[in-house]
Amino acid sequence: MADLSTKYGSLKLKSPVIAGSSGLTDNIENMIQLEKAGAGAIVLKSLFEEEILKEMDIQLGAMGANTFIYPETVDFYDYYDGPRESTTTYLELVRKAKTSLAIPVIASINCMDAQNWTYFPGRLEEAGADAVELNIFNIPSDLNKSSEENEKIYFEIIREVQKQTKLPLFVKLSYYSSSLATFLRKVSESGVDGMILFNRFYNPDIDINKLELTNGGVLSTPGDIYQSLRWIAIMAKRVDCSLIASTGVHDAHGLIRQLLAGADAVQVASTLYTNGIPYLSAILNQLEEWMNEKGYSKLDDFKGMLCQSEADNPAVFSRTQFMKYFRGFPKS
Ligand SMILES: Cc1cc2nc3c(=O)[nH]c(=O)nc-3n(C[C@H](O)[C@H](O)[C@H](O)COP(=O)(O)O)c2cc1C
Repeated sequence: MADLSTKYGSLKLKSPVIAGSSGLTDNIENMIQLEKAGAGAIVLKSLFEEEILKEMDIQLGAMGANTFIYPETVDFYDYYDGPRESTTTYLELVRKAKTSLAIPVIASINCMDAQNWTYFPGRLEEAGADAVELNIFNIPSDLNKSSEENEKIYFEIIREVQKQTKLPLFVKLSYYSSSLATFLRKVSESGVDGMILFNRFYNPDIDINKLELTNGGVLSTPGDIYQSLRWIAIMAKRVDCSLIASTGVHDAHGLIRQLLAGADAVQVASTLYTNGIPYLSAILNQLEEWMNEKGYSKLDDFKGMLCQSEADNPAVFSRTQFMKYFRGFPKS
């Protein structure tokens, strides 16, 4: 039997397929099913920064404070014994997951600012989470903000969270950077355990009949893998932290390509919505079959074999134009 274990930052996982944060990871029943299907770890549905802040606001408001939250009041809030609806529920989910599962449980926070919510990862650690994932979502759409200003926020968030917890920290990033390779290298040097490339934003769309804005679809397709595949391959063996591929991994074919490109693991969400949770075990079975066929006994036998720094033709990963196809396509 092939050894499918992998390192995920400082965590050791029994398989390289992680259940990414989604509506499927907000309840224990699904988590147990995911573990049975062979998931290496589970990233819980995210708590939003605003949810933490709003709750603090409500609590403090009820106690006569105004809605402005100062750092000192955060400490106060920590010791306030009133009802804490959503953060309490989230911490309870972490505790329950830890008692129900043997695989690592990674708590997740969606954030865009290093505001006063950053105390919360300390609570996640107390509740027993094995790691924290920060989904930092910052669309650089402000015409008056420089790229430095847009990127500074990532490092502020990471630094503030590191002050609050010793847990392994993972950051889920986007490709919106004017100098992506440099940016990713800098993030990898900030003490994080791993980078997840990439998160998938809400996509606005346009309905041409109703002449109104709509939602561009929540689930990814297998064709959405390429952005992540390219950047995993470019960054592999050039950063110290783990690289985890996310977006568009729908099957064993996607998983194997990401491992060959240099990913330590992949996260999946859409494929579990489309094919059901047990499909995760089919992905792992097919990986094992492929490894047996190729004569590989462990992931390190082939992980990163086709990353940019090892590939025979590294320029492929920096190429942007389909020159020869543009000329002669379609062929008769
Ligand atoms: C219904 C749904 C809910 C999601 N909720 C979250 C979330 O709370 N936090 C988060 O970081 N990502 C969330 N995601 C994004 C996924 O974790 C993942 O990054 C994205 O779907 C791309 O991976 P995929 O192609 O395997 O679906 C969600 C995705 C879906 C489909």
